[in-house]
Amino acid sequence: MLNDMSTKLISTRSRPINIDYNKLPQHIAIIMDGNGRWAKQQGLPRIEGHLQGVNALKEILRACKNWGIRTLTVYAFSTENWGRPLTEVSFLMNLFERFIKQELEEMQQEGVCLKFIGDLSALPLSLQQVIEHSMAITQHNQGINFNVAINYGGRDEIVKACRSIAEKVARQELLPETINADLISQHLDTANNSDPDLLIRTSGEMRLSNFLLWQIAYTEIYVTDTFWPDFAPKQLEKAIVHYQKRDRRFGKIK
Ligand code: FPP
Repeated sequence: MLNDMSTKLISTRSRPINIDYNKLPQHIAIIMDGNGRWAKQQGLPRIEGHLQGVNALKEILRACKNWGIRTLTVYAFSTENWGRPLTEVSFLMNLFERFIKQELEEMQQEGVCLKFIGDLSALPLSLQQVIEHSMAITQHNQGINFNVAINYGGRDEIVKACRSIAEKVARQELLPETINADLISQHLDTANNSDPDLLIRTSGEMRLSNFLLWQIAYTEIYVTDTFWPDFAPKQLEKAIVHYQKRDRRFGKIK
């Protein structure tokens, strides 16, 4: 009993008091930008920015889980990122693999349901295997849904959904008149998640960069100048407090 109470106390205390927990965004999506600029600012090679970016991500995932966010979706590698120097691309692929291997046990203990979205078939085979294993063993976890977008592009995802729907129509499993927005959502990589309530982009750029194009139709957008490696739970708290002041009308009038 004493143990139960003390656990509750600790977890309550670690929640910032400025947040209204009755109005939490259920799903937060993040464009983690600025690793390279952070490294440059520190006089370090770009890869140091990515390494520091991993630490930032771990902290943010932990905060989201402790504060009661249902789903966190992060943009780790876009379909366009293959155009970076080969050394950086290889470094990132290795980093993703290392991250999964090193963090899987703790994520499992914390009840993280890990999912990778994007075209995973183009990734190095060893990374694909680690991804598959991590998704299989965490699939029933209830603590938080953690989606990592790798080789992800919003347009590519929509194209794949259209193709899959068209194939079902061709096989006469679907009638064209039953195609609606819900059906399209169900054919996206994020099929079982609600749409993001809040999209955060770090390091100041005002663009979507092909991220979750379909899903963010009514998402509130928050852009901060902070580079991703410096984005700590304190900044997440600020973003959530901002979000809670927004008047979400979904195109309607109150
Ligand atoms: C943007 O910085 C970040 C990325 C390309 C993604 C990599 C993200 C991480 C390494 C964070 C950890 C992620 C996982 C899944 C372990 P940038 O290189 O575009 O920065 P710049 O715009 O300043 O050059």
